[in-house]
Amino acid sequence: MNITLAFDVYGTLIDTQGITSSLEKYAGPQAAEFARLWREKQLEYSFRRGLMQNYVSFDICTSHALAFASSALKIPLQQSDKDSLMYQYKVLPAFADVKNGLAKAKQAGFRLFAFSNGRANDVEALLNHAGISDYFIDVVSVDEMKSYKPNPGVYSHFLRRSAATCSEAWLVSGNPFDVIGAVSSGMRAAWVKRSPETIFDPWGIAPTLTVNNLAGIAEQISRAGTAA
Ligand code: LAC
Repeated sequence: MNITLAFDVYGTLIDTQGITSSLEKYAGPQAAEFARLWREKQLEYSFRRGLMQNYVSFDICTSHALAFASSALKIPLQQSDKDSLMYQYKVLPAFADVKNGLAKAKQAGFRLFAFSNGRANDVEALLNHAGISDYFIDVVSVDEMKSYKPNPGVYSHFLRRSAATCSEAWLVSGNPFDVIGAVSSGMRAAWVKRSPETIFDPWGIAPTLTVNNLAGIAEQISRAGTAA
């Protein structure tokens, strides 16, 4: 049975804190705080948009979150500054462990997909810039469903688009909300816990597997798969 892996993108393959260096010219020592608030609000807007059934694409959630962070931290940005930062968000860096982990997973015969809230063209730009797009069979974007993670419908959509069944597919994500969403919809999920300080939400819904990075993801899922 060929195992299909749905790799979440922002916060799993791509480091959203990578925008911090671009923020330093505007935010100085508050750059890391600005980057965290920007990401936090970006996700909050996606959750609210999904619940309200008032969908706009993830790049607009990202742009609105940028404007919020600028106002909240009292760091004024010109439109040209915002345009520049939004461009930088399309070329964020991959985590250091990603390329090696993807190469080993592909070599091991896994079917690899990118699965993201981001629009397909934005995700493709990120993957191309990071030099990892060739590892993936396809990019599946929730934009095709006009809703957001963790709506159970987007996980079902991924299974349809990847021609995989629940028992053949794993979500791989650094975002606990995404892992809980996937497990709740019947998929197995590996949580990528890169920082020991990261807390998994105390909902009583656990990841199928927890890994510290993607370097050994293929071997760890193979081992877990045979055990389950
Ligand atoms: C993604 C973000 C939400 O879907 O992690 O890529």
